[in-house]
Amino acid sequence: MRVLVTGSSGQLGSYLCELLMRRHDVVGLDTRTQPYAVLKPCSVVGDIQRPGDVRRVLGGVDAVVHCAAQVSVDKSVQDPITDASVNVLGTVSVLHESAKAGVRKFVYISSAAIFGRPKYLPVDEEHPTHPISNYGVSKLAGEKYVLAYANMSRMEVVSVRPFNFYSVRADPQSPYSGVITKFVSRVRSGFPPIIEGDGRQTRDFIHTRDVAEMISLILEKDGLGGQVLNCGSGVSTSVSDLARKAIRASGRDLEPLFATPRIGDIRDSVCNVTKSRELLGFRAKVSLEEGLSELVR
Ligand SMILES: NC(=O)c1ccc[n+]([C@@H]2O[C@H](COP(=O)([O-])OP(=O)(O)OC[C@H]3O[C@@H](n4cnc5c(N)ncnc54)[C@H](O)[C@@H]3O)[C@@H](O)[C@H]2O)c1
Repeated sequence: MRVLVTGSSGQLGSYLCELLMRRHDVVGLDTRTQPYAVLKPCSVVGDIQRPGDVRRVLGGVDAVVHCAAQVSVDKSVQDPITDASVNVLGTVSVLHESAKAGVRKFVYISSAAIFGRPKYLPVDEEHPTHPISNYGVSKLAGEKYVLAYANMSRMEVVSVRPFNFYSVRADPQSPYSGVITKFVSRVRSGFPPIIEGDGRQTRDFIHTRDVAEMISLILEKDGLGGQVLNCGSGVSTSVSDLARKAIRASGRDLEPLFATPRIGDIRDSVCNVTKSRELLGFRAKVSLEEGLSELVR
């Protein structure tokens, strides 16, 4: 099978390309040049917002995994036009060109941000979607377009809603990096992690390699058309716990610091993993301890 991965220079896209290359013919599209040597030969520089760029890489493609996105909640608040342009119009461009090119399967990487403040935990696929940020809205709009294309074309479409994923490939210099990247970056330099709020807020952290594994299972399985699947570890971790684990992984003697809470943050979030277990037999393999020591090393 020939697979197009958009966002192939990013965290998820690059792990996914590496995994898929073992069995499939892979082509990647990204606005950034490919940072990983092994992926350079199959990577093309281009913008998902330009239909011509997308068309150029769709020749002979059977399946598309659409990972490219504006990925930051904060940036979506500061610059909602860019967020909507990339995440909504960019997604429409990839979908439309894929349908025209006769792509069989389309996997859209959505986000747990589409749920907003959870009304119950763990969050399953039936949970209402009330996003509380521009990013959440733009990712949800993508899902709606994907479902519409399931009706308007012959593509089998699946949306995946990852919770918080992390890896060494997240950019520690980015002002928008996630809490794990920030904590690890500080403990590695001998500084204590800074917890925003009381630290009792909880999240579901999953290693990016596990997310890639779940997407690969989706590509291998037929009959998933129109499905949405949450993607997480199913483990709830408090931010204080995460800070302690990051300190332990560093082997240093540090005490976390506390700062004012982030405005608008949700309190708790954890993924209900039942559907992905039943449909795909998927279980996250990398424990948070393993993932953190990989990052600290
Ligand atoms: N990181 C998380 O915790 C998380 C959680 C839920 C969902 N997601 C979703 O997973 C996907 C991948 O996220 P990631 O963390 O790997 O992000 P990332 O920033 O590492 O990768 C995204 C890639 O998309 C590329 N890109 C951005 N705009 C583009 C455009 N116009 N044309 C082509 N390429 C473009 C970027 O250059 C980047 O390489 C995104 O769709 C994101 O919304 C991420």
